[in-house]
Amino acid sequence: MTRDSAATSVNGVLAELFAAAADLCRDRSPLTQRLLTDAAGDLRQGGVTTRIMAGSECDREGTVPGLRFAGAVHRLVLEGLAPGLAKHYPSVGGQPHLPTLWEDALPALNEHVDLLRHRVAATVVQTNEPGRSAPLYGGLLVAAQEAAKAAGRHVPFCVRLLEVGASGGLNLRPHHVGYRLGDRVLGDPDSLLVLDPEWTGRPPADLDHRLRVVGRAGCDLTPVDVSTEDGRLHLSSFVWADQLDRWNRLRDALDLAATDPVKVDRSAGPEWLAKQLARVERDVLTVVWHSVVWQYVSPADRAMGRAVLADAAAKATPTTPLALLVFEPRREIDYKFALMLKLWPAGISLSLGVGEGHGIPFTWNVTPWE
Ligand SMILES: C[S@@+](CC[C@H](N)C(=O)[O-])C[C@H]1O[C@@H](n2cnc3c(N)ncnc32)[C@H](O)[C@@H]1O
Repeated sequence: MTRDSAATSVNGVLAELFAAAADLCRDRSPLTQRLLTDAAGDLRQGGVTTRIMAGSECDREGTVPGLRFAGAVHRLVLEGLAPGLAKHYPSVGGQPHLPTLWEDALPALNEHVDLLRHRVAATVVQTNEPGRSAPLYGGLLVAAQEAAKAAGRHVPFCVRLLEVGASGGLNLRPHHVGYRLGDRVLGDPDSLLVLDPEWTGRPPADLDHRLRVVGRAGCDLTPVDVSTEDGRLHLSSFVWADQLDRWNRLRDALDLAATDPVKVDRSAGPEWLAKQLARVERDVLTVVWHSVVWQYVSPADRAMGRAVLADAAAKATPTTPLALLVFEPRREIDYKFALMLKLWPAGISLSLGVGEGHGIPFTWNVTPWE
């Protein structure tokens, strides 16, 4: 094979990955779908996208090179570096006109080849979805109240929240978020972030009880520091620009985070969790939480994480109870996203309901978690 034909075949494979990423956006983000479809065509013809993707051509499919490209382009728009393209991006007040999207993208792509190449190579696709605070909030109410009942207490436990895979930590303040249910708002009605959780049914808990969070901490392999402009842009760039509900949610969550900072530690989950769980607090329910993380965790880390948790669970007592609360896709229900709760020493293990991957909408329905 000559060098030219090898390059053509590598770009053909990359073009297929871009086309597959475009397909992921079908019915959800016409803008990103169109951008990636046109970029796939451009790759096949050896256009500017080939130069932007130089060095990333052989990246694994799981790193989703197409979404990294779309994120880098979105970031250019957010930074004001692509004025001719911005008119298509609702995240900056534009209105997509798909037939002219690619011709309006080309000047910015050509002008910023080096910057785009660097960013595509240096970033991983990373999101932090604040909509998941809604099932988290309901799940914490259930956990605090069930643990209290099991311990023979009348008042729900205060909660210490430990999040593994916290990304930018946007779900580490569920008690400072408002949750609009008809004409009432749970949580904090005056919050900068008020969600419409779109619940069918209700959490099996007394919703009049206030959730009291007395401690919170989070870790991530690659934490995002949302107190910096770079961190905010990083998370924002991966929200598809025409998904305005998610965009507005993220913007409000970032504003809320600025008023109530929580640092996310750089660490793999198991080591971090072992250190956190070594410290036991009396009369507090410690809750280990993760959402949409498990699929990314290596088999070794999964085994170690389970062992760390089992060790802490064995030591839990009625005055120092422990909970595991997770929102993850579940194989047994066709990879729909389920909210699941285990409580020690109460011996409770429940699936609390099922929702969309972003946490909204959500249907409360309690069944055993086997
Ligand atoms: C899809 S994001 C979800 C972020 C956040 N939990 C949410 O619901 O918005 C998955 C996160 O898990 C992190 N992650 C993956 N493996 C991890 C591990 N072994 N330990 C800690 N974090 C991990 C990634 O860096 C990424 O930030």
